[in-house]
Parts: sequence; C-alpha cells; structure tokens
Amino acid sequence: MMKLIHADIVYSEDREQLAVHPDSYIAVEKGKVKGIWPVIPEEYRNVPVTDHGNGVLIPAFSDLHVHAPQYLNRGLEMDLLLEDWLNKCTFPLEAKYADPGFAKLVYDAFVDDMLANGTMHACVYGTIHSEATSYLIERMDSAGIKGFVGKVNMDRSAPADLLEDAEESVRETEALLEKYSGNRNTKPILTPRFAPTCTGKLLNDLGKLGKKYGVGMQTHLVESLWEAEQARLLFPEYSCDTEIYEKSGLMDNGPVIGGHFIFPSEDDIRIMQKYDSYAVQCPDATVSVIAGIMQTGALLDRGMKIGLGSDISAGHHIGVYTQAARAVQLSKLKEFYEPEGNRKISFPEAFWMATKQSGDLFGGTGSLEPGSVFDALVIDGLSDAARELSPAQTVERFCYIGTKENIKARYINGKQI
Ligand code: GUN
Ligand code: FE
Repeated sequence: MMKLIHADIVYSEDREQLAVHPDSYIAVEKGKVKGIWPVIPEEYRNVPVTDHGNGVLIPAFSDLHVHAPQYLNRGLEMDLLLEDWLNKCTFPLEAKYADPGFAKLVYDAFVDDMLANGTMHACVYGTIHSEATSYLIERMDSAGIKGFVGKVNMDRSAPADLLEDAEESVRETEALLEKYSGNRNTKPILTPRFAPTCTGKLLNDLGKLGKKYGVGMQTHLVESLWEAEQARLLFPEYSCDTEIYEKSGLMDNGPVIGGHFIFPSEDDIRIMQKYDSYAVQCPDATVSVIAGIMQTGALLDRGMKIGLGSDISAGHHIGVYTQAARAVQLSKLKEFYEPEGNRKISFPEAFWMATKQSGDLFGGTGSLEPGSVFDALVIDGLSDAARELSPAQTVERFCYIGTKENIKARYINGKQI
C-alpha cells in the first residue's frame, strides 16, 4: 500500500548541502521512499494523503553512542571528570542492573524517551548483565528501532560487582549472539568497554567470537588523555589504542564504532580508515566529563566517517538533534584555540553526520531520497509570529532550541507511530 505525505521536506543532499523541497508530496511504499514531487503525479491521484501543513519532514536521527543503563544519571554529577565520574557515579549505578526488574523499569523509559526525541537508530551499551541486556535488545527491536546493543565486557579495573572473568564474559556474550542472530531490527554487537577495563585475553577471545559470528564492535577510543595513557601502559606492545583492537581481531568482522576519538594519533586514524570505521563525536559528554574536543572538521576532510552520540549520561540530553548544534559550536572553539589544521563545521555538515552519514550504518536510512527506509519526523512550531522561518531554518532552530514537543509526528519503517 502506497501513501502520500504532504509537508516541507528537508534532508541531506550530501555532506555540505541540504536538499529542500518546500510544499511537496513524498510517496512511501513498503516502508521506503518512492519519490518527491511538488504536485501529486497523475498516476497517484487516488493515493491517500496525510497532510502535515507547514510541518517540516526530516529523516529520524541516529545516536551512535549511548549508555541505556546510565539514563537514570542524566544531568547528575556533571562536575566530575571521566575517571572519578566512572568510579563515583557510573559504576555504582551499572551494578544495579543485576536486578532485571530494575533494568526493565529504566530501559522502558529510555526507549520511550529516545523515540520521543526522534532517535530511531542507535548503538547502545548495556551493562555486563545478560538478562538486562536481553530485555533491552527485545524492547528496542519490538519498537522497530534499528540498532546495535552490546552486553558490556570488562574483566579488570572496576568494582568487584561489575567484574567478570574473561571466560564467563565471552560465554555470556556468545549466548546473546546465538539468541539474537538473524534478521532483526536490533542486533547484538561486541562491546568491550574500553582498554583500561579489558585484558588482552578478553579482547582476543572476543575477536574470535566476532570472526565466528560476523559481528562488529563498539568501544571508547582515545577518549581522554588519561584513557590513552592507560591504554599505552596496559598494552605497551601496541603503538596506539586502535591497534589494540586491530591486533585482537576486532576490527574486520562487522561495523566498528569508536566513541569519542578525541586524541587520535596518525596510527589511530590510519587503522580506523583502513576498516572504514565510524568515529563518534559526543559533544555534551566531551564538554562535561572528558574535556577534549574532536578534530571534527579535519577528520571529515580526511574522509573519516563520523556520527554523533548523546553518550547518556556523560552527555545529558538524549536528543541527538541537540548534539548537532553542539558539534558546530565545539568546532568553532577548536578552530579558535587550535587554528593549526582545524576548521569549524557548517550546520548542514552536523545534520548530515546525525542523519545520512550515520543512517548508512543501519541499512539505507537517515535520508529521504528515493529508496531510503522511511524513518522520519515532522517538526513544527518553531517560527515567530513576526517572521516565518524557511524549512531549512526550521531544522537549524530545532537543533538549537527545539524540544521533543516540536516533533509533531514520527514514522518508523514507513508507519506512523
Ligand atoms: N569510558 C569507559 N566507560 C565509559 C562510559 O560509560 N562513558 C564514557 N563517556 N566514557 C567511558
Ligand atoms: Fe560512553
């Protein structure tokens, strides 16, 4: 069954440009975009039309780095830096997900809030706990969210109630890969937390699992000077953080998503590009607990794939649209304080990272061009009485000062929810 939707339509034409189709009709068939026209084509005259008036139709957002269990801590303890923040507030909260009832309560709210804020694709960290992580995979999958969810692996440098031994960690991870194999919206992904909390044995054994099941990996990569230093101390045989994962066989089994990537060496960049991996900028998180700024403009110019992440709860806002605005702001600071080799990014570049560029990871979504999977939002209510905004201005203002209340309709896999 085909349907037509009327709205102002905006999506990324390419990295630098928005495609804008004011006052147009988009046809959706079998969950995919068929075409966009200024008037209804003759052959579609009898197709039902949903009219969103002056609303602006945009692709739904992708969150490439978010911790579901940390949802309860958003906006709290934001005056700490990474090491203290992990030990004082993050690890103690994550230990509570040994209780599946507690996990269910939080994960239901997390998934609802993600969708409310227009995120329909996501790379999500759970905790070390299998039962809680299973629930998260099933909850996201049944909501239609295209995603990757990881049971976190960690076997050193954490409180006793969050530590596994390497064998147990790998066994539990394999059980999840078996249970959730096949064609689903939400799939499992390997999630070694980061180098400081993983032994070489754990990483090597996860690499073998990755190969056996054809599954990729998400982790935190050169996220802070402290973390990069720890990685060097704990893995002195490798030249950089990324090489630890490469030599463990974790880079070439499926998509690799490296959170933060703020202090990469040339080797880190070379290895990430070799495997066409995604780096993820998490603007709020880097301001709050990491205190470093990604070289976004320079990395984009070198052809790196970069998406955006809310990084709840190092970041405090679950809406990826807010992170698109923050990415532009941070790029200006980066250029101002370190002009050598850095440049500010444009708003269309930030929007592209949050939609089209990241959507590719989830199978052809994140755009409204013909053939795209139709995951989309209608935003409205952002103009002033004294001046009507253009469709492109509406999108920019939404990212700066919009809220979930400005999202008037949501479509996932072609269906309105
Ligand atoms: N590094 C290791 N664990 C974490 C985490 O939970 N959040 C962030 N931002 N960085 C990390
Ligand atoms: Fe994180």
